Amino acid sequence: RTVMCVVGARPNFMKIAPIMAALEDSTPLSLVHTGQHYDIHMQALFFQQLGIPEPDINLEVGSGSHGWQTAEIMQRFEPVVDAAAPIAVLVVGDVNSTIACALVAAKKQIPVIHVEAGLRSFDRSMPEEINRVLTDQLAQLLFTTERAAGENLLREGVEENRIHFVGNVMIDSLLDHRSKAVAARETLLQSKGEAAVEACGSGYAVLTLHRPANVDDASILRGIISLLQRISERIPIVFPVHPRTKAALERSGLDQTLEQISGIFCLSPVGYLEMLGLMSESRLVLTDSGGMQEETTALGIPCVTLRNNTERPITVTEGTNTVTGIAPERVLAVVDDILVTGGKSGCTPELWDGKAALRIRDVMIGWLKSLGNGGDR
Ligand code: UD1
Repeated sequence: RTVMCVVGARPNFMKIAPIMAALEDSTPLSLVHTGQHYDIHMQALFFQQLGIPEPDINLEVGSGSHGWQTAEIMQRFEPVVDAAAPIAVLVVGDVNSTIACALVAAKKQIPVIHVEAGLRSFDRSMPEEINRVLTDQLAQLLFTTERAAGENLLREGVEENRIHFVGNVMIDSLLDHRSKAVAARETLLQSKGEAAVEACGSGYAVLTLHRPANVDDASILRGIISLLQRISERIPIVFPVHPRTKAALERSGLDQTLEQISGIFCLSPVGYLEMLGLMSESRLVLTDSGGMQEETTALGIPCVTLRNNTERPITVTEGTNTVTGIAPERVLAVVDDILVTGGKSGCTPELWDGKAALRIRDVMIGWLKSLGNGGDR
């Protein structure tokens, strides 16, 4: 019997890699990939670059509406759990795969372990917020990345002895792989040629955009693109385009508009090491991603978060992050300030030291022993 680890979507991979590496000597592990993400550039490349073991099982779920995707993962995960009878199911982050597998396990009274617990944007229009709240209610063992997360959990009635503040496993991955990052020049040359390397030579911004609230509605997306055009007049923008965003751009015909903006360089989604290189060498990052707010804080690169809120407040209070929303004047003012002054100087949050997975291992060894002695409930 194993501790069954679950991954499904891109932001899961950099979290599971250090956890599995830290646990492999002490704990029998298995890995289930739900197949929520399936393009080579959204998953296989990450397995390879991060040294994640081949999944024991791939549920090959693919894309669909939230209801369909969550239900499909549950239906396909249930027989896997029945056959393997895992000691526990370990889920990370806040994607649909996280809640779907946690729910299946919890109903079978298999303990759920949630890594990156307790983060809250307090915005239920965000599908991930619903996944976060529900997964934490189902989990027996909850590992947090910042102290505010623990406070959120306590407020929601989670027992204190289940909550462990261990730091940030995604930063374990970042520190582990930083020296192997692919140089920005290399990535730009490969996908855009010499002209892009030249244009970005004296500084560039990295942009990622994929939140449904920003990309799914054509008029909102049009507004963001016109804002990006104004930013690109100040600094070139390197933009690896998420598949959801690509589809939205094509649907609305805005892909043509984007192509005509000379200061924006659109790339296919890039691998982990390529992204690490692009971020590390940039003057600033513009993003609506959750993880990149943390990665930029760890790298000391200014981050402009194109959302109205964040579930990772420490990136704002201690790190380099500024949450701006998408109102043009606000974003431009923050970008201008970064370009002139270099932006906020952040510091590294507590326990973001590359050892979070080792702390998880230590807690888990004790916890697994207690399960063997009759369970922890
Ligand atoms: C998912 C997560 C989000 C995370 C993001 C990172 C949920 C609710 N959302 O959003 O939290 O920040 O992953 O990438 O779990 N597609 C492809 N190829 C793929 C995967 C997706 O083309 O390999 C396209 C499909 O058209 C799909 C769309 O992207 O419909 C959205 O994919 P989905 O996994 O539903 O959500 P993401 O937007 O990727």
